[in-house]
Amino acid sequence: MQLAPRTERLWWRDAVTYQIYIRSFADSNGDGIGDINGIRSRLPYLKELGIDAIWITPWFPSPQKDHGYDVANYFDIEPDYGTLADAKALIAEAHAIGIRILLDIVPNHCSDQHEWFQAALKAAPGSKERERFHFLDGKGKNGELPPNNWPSVFGGVAWQRVIEADSKPGQWYLHLFATEQPDFNWENAEVREHFENILKFWLDLGIDGFRIDVAHAMIKAEGLPDIVEPEQGNEMLSATQHPFWDQEGVHDIHRSWRKILDSYPGDRMAVAEAWVSPATRIARYLRPDELANSFNFDFLITLWDAPEIKGRIVTSMAAMAEVGAPSSWVFNNHDLVRSVDRFDLGLLNVDKSTLHRQGDAKKFNLERGTRRARAGAMLMLALPGGAYVYQGEELALPEVRDIPEDRLTDPRWVMSGKVDRGRDGCRVPLPWHHEPTGAFGFSANESLKPVEAWLPQSEWWGKFAASQQDGKADSTLTMYRKALAIRKVEAGLGDGPMTWLEVNDKVIAFARPGNFVCYVNFGKEISLPAGAEVLLSSGPLTGDKLPTDTAVWLRVN
Ligand code: GLC
Repeated sequence: MQLAPRTERLWWRDAVTYQIYIRSFADSNGDGIGDINGIRSRLPYLKELGIDAIWITPWFPSPQKDHGYDVANYFDIEPDYGTLADAKALIAEAHAIGIRILLDIVPNHCSDQHEWFQAALKAAPGSKERERFHFLDGKGKNGELPPNNWPSVFGGVAWQRVIEADSKPGQWYLHLFATEQPDFNWENAEVREHFENILKFWLDLGIDGFRIDVAHAMIKAEGLPDIVEPEQGNEMLSATQHPFWDQEGVHDIHRSWRKILDSYPGDRMAVAEAWVSPATRIARYLRPDELANSFNFDFLITLWDAPEIKGRIVTSMAAMAEVGAPSSWVFNNHDLVRSVDRFDLGLLNVDKSTLHRQGDAKKFNLERGTRRARAGAMLMLALPGGAYVYQGEELALPEVRDIPEDRLTDPRWVMSGKVDRGRDGCRVPLPWHHEPTGAFGFSANESLKPVEAWLPQSEWWGKFAASQQDGKADSTLTMYRKALAIRKVEAGLGDGPMTWLEVNDKVIAFARPGNFVCYVNFGKEISLPAGAEVLLSSGPLTGDKLPTDTAVWLRVN
């Protein structure tokens, strides 16, 4: 494929997008909860970091049963996060400094407090209000059994029985996620129209695109057939066909959304959260009339192993090339154990128990995990395509494992029968400063008085603070700033060709145009090419040798 020069390419083919988990990014009003004005106050930090766009997790009014992924009204802002006026100010200020904004849109389900769901509860079986969701009669003599055997992603069954107007138990509704997140029925024309209006509402306000939550789930197989192995639970990423994941009909929705995006000026885009595998299935979301990006989940759950990672890169790039789309590399998000821990402990993120998800704290080696996460970041930023960075990744934050059980908030914790601590450990509010008061500067004015954040910040959190890393030559923050600055000026980085270099099976090495070379060493120390200029390394080099778990960017002759 012939590529346009960097300056003329569509921005999202190369963008580095920074994910803001709004509740935990920055709190401007001292209530312990992050907010829009907190984001505004940190725009200079984001600018200095060198990212191109931000993706903000759902900021709509929500009872926060799944921290905003349970939306009560798609046309407004959660009062804890601010107002529409704040949102408009943020959009204007971000654009003024060249940062684009993506919003997280949640089309598969809403909150049980959404007015449509409240109306459906009050309406009778078979009514048009119930048609917007999946309400069905139960099985068994008195309808006491769920309509099918689908499990919820968060644990337990995916159905909840309601009490009807006659005060008796009646129909069941489908919720693939929390009980408070009823699934929309996307066969219903009103649902489709509702979402078209939502997209236009936010595009009219000037946002640059959307991250589409569970973009592979909206359409369910006809008749909602049972699955074969319900006792296995419900994993988002699975190569087996499921009647609720990756159905053909979702592509029609994405095609119609693409038309809406294209009807606006300025290269608006959407990125799919489509937990599908293998990469050829992901590529189907990126066909020329569908979406721009789709997170590369095979990459996101990889082990720290050279052949494994290289294999995933090769298959992703081949699949994307088939449809002319860029790859979207990602190592972290708000749903997964942070890469510092994952790469050290070999975690796969797919098991149901806390031990399997978070690994054994006693075996965790922070220093080694940090080294690997840093090397991984430099690999990701040198690969062709775009990258997604989750807040705190630039500080090498580890997973937080010591949140007391009575402070855990993720619905996974309760719905799993308290065997899976859930995702709170990667969502702890960011440490900005190590204040004399002992606080970490997440909330404004914490230099005067500490504020209790919505998730507790352990006392060891302060050593990762942005202010502790600012200006320090060997900090992870400095490494990210330098890497992003180099990426901006190196014409050969971002989208475009790459050539593999063979060293040994413990090394990933490749060249990009402009005599740029990236080496990532997973094994024993190796020698670097003689006379090469070191542009950046993820850790100290020993002379002209690259130690284990270290990446380097070189200019070669
Ligand atoms: C997505 C989100 C996750 C949320 C789920 C249900 O996977 O990333 O945080 O819980 O969808 O909306």
